[in-house]
Amino acid sequence: MVRKLAPVRNNETLSLVRKIHVASKCKEPVNLGKVLVSCANAITAKAAFGQVCSGELQDQFLSAMDVGLKISGGMSFGDLFPSMRFVDVITGARRRLWQARWQLDIVFDKIIAHCEAHRGDGLVSVLLRIRDNGELEFPFDTTNIKAIIEDMFTAGTETTSSVAEWVMSELMKNADVMAKAQDEVRRVFGNKSVQDHENLLEELPYLKMVIKEGMRLHPVVPLLVPHLCRETCDIGGFEVVEGTRVMVNTWAMARNPEHWHDGEKFWPERFEDGKTDYKASRFDYLPFGAGRRRCPGDTFGLAVLELIVARLLYYFDWSLPNGIQPDEINMDAIVGATMRRKYQLHLVASPHTMILNEYLIDQSVYLLLVLNFPQLCLCLVTCIPYLSHSNGL
Ligand code: HEM
Repeated sequence: MVRKLAPVRNNETLSLVRKIHVASKCKEPVNLGKVLVSCANAITAKAAFGQVCSGELQDQFLSAMDVGLKISGGMSFGDLFPSMRFVDVITGARRRLWQARWQLDIVFDKIIAHCEAHRGDGLVSVLLRIRDNGELEFPFDTTNIKAIIEDMFTAGTETTSSVAEWVMSELMKNADVMAKAQDEVRRVFGNKSVQDHENLLEELPYLKMVIKEGMRLHPVVPLLVPHLCRETCDIGGFEVVEGTRVMVNTWAMARNPEHWHDGEKFWPERFEDGKTDYKASRFDYLPFGAGRRRCPGDTFGLAVLELIVARLLYYFDWSLPNGIQPDEINMDAIVGATMRRKYQLHLVASPHTMILNEYLIDQSVYLLLVLNFPQLCLCLVTCIPYLSHSNGL
């Protein structure tokens, strides 16, 4: 399935490259955070619905998701002191969550209406079919469909784009790592067709280490998704009672000096021995969680992430705007359900012209011109007398 969606990843990441290329012509800094979210959102939408939401719908969705993630993550007052849930009402947290939910509802209603009208093989069409045929043993209605869409979007958009943004931030702070990763990508991708880029990712071991290290220092789901203890057990001498809500602090685990040498340092080479993988075989590194509630989108997320970072490094040289020095980059984070940069990353992109010229003429335009060349010539010849006439020649 992940492989089947390769064309979606290819097209949307190329569209990201084009967007940055256009912005770079004005020498203006690009809001990398914003274009990355939009790219990840488009990929998830196309994968889930077989089409992208309109720009307006996408903006509405992103802003509602933003509010939801900010206030639903971590712990609310009522989580810590269940008998005092009324405090969340007084602080307005509950009202803000309902507002975000209503805003999301409007977007979901439009998506569902569109899929009702154009039934296909997309995820939502399949869910609608299940709802209409009553195929399940338990009740399954439109609200359930909305919950699944929300899961897909929030889990697939914010995570992937945030990791990419953190990785780029670290690369800007560590020029030697950036140079080494860029060298590798340009050597491997050089003179190869864009269609081959995704297959060539396997030949980029250093880039993969860079991404692993980015996710270690900046786990985007730092407390994982809250887990519920199903039976009383003993963990390290502590009794965890059945029904306890467990938050796993992967942020702290991933920089614990007992397991990580110089844990605060961005040093991708620490993964060179190949002993640490994403499968949670060592519980000191859990960027995708572990066990039955582990991230089901890890393979898809990684495929998107690696292609995005590889292409950003391949097609552009990057610098900081307004004379900012690498050690002045603000690395503050906002922790909600996910941990992302407090201030979106703005960078100046300089196209690597020789590489960009290889393909940036949009392939469809290129094919259109090549395949229709005789017709275009004929059309031009037919029009010349009229053009001359209208110009008074
Ligand atoms: C680099 C990108 C991603 C990262 C770092 C990531 C990370 C995570 C983490 C840490 C969890 C919590 C696991 C736990 O509590 O044990 C999670 C859950 C989840 N992820 Fe991802 N994720 C990524 C991409 C995706 C994508 C692309 C999708 C789907 C399109 C996705 C779908 C989900 C879902 C549905 C859950 C909830 C699973 C459950 O509660 O049973 N994720 N993710």
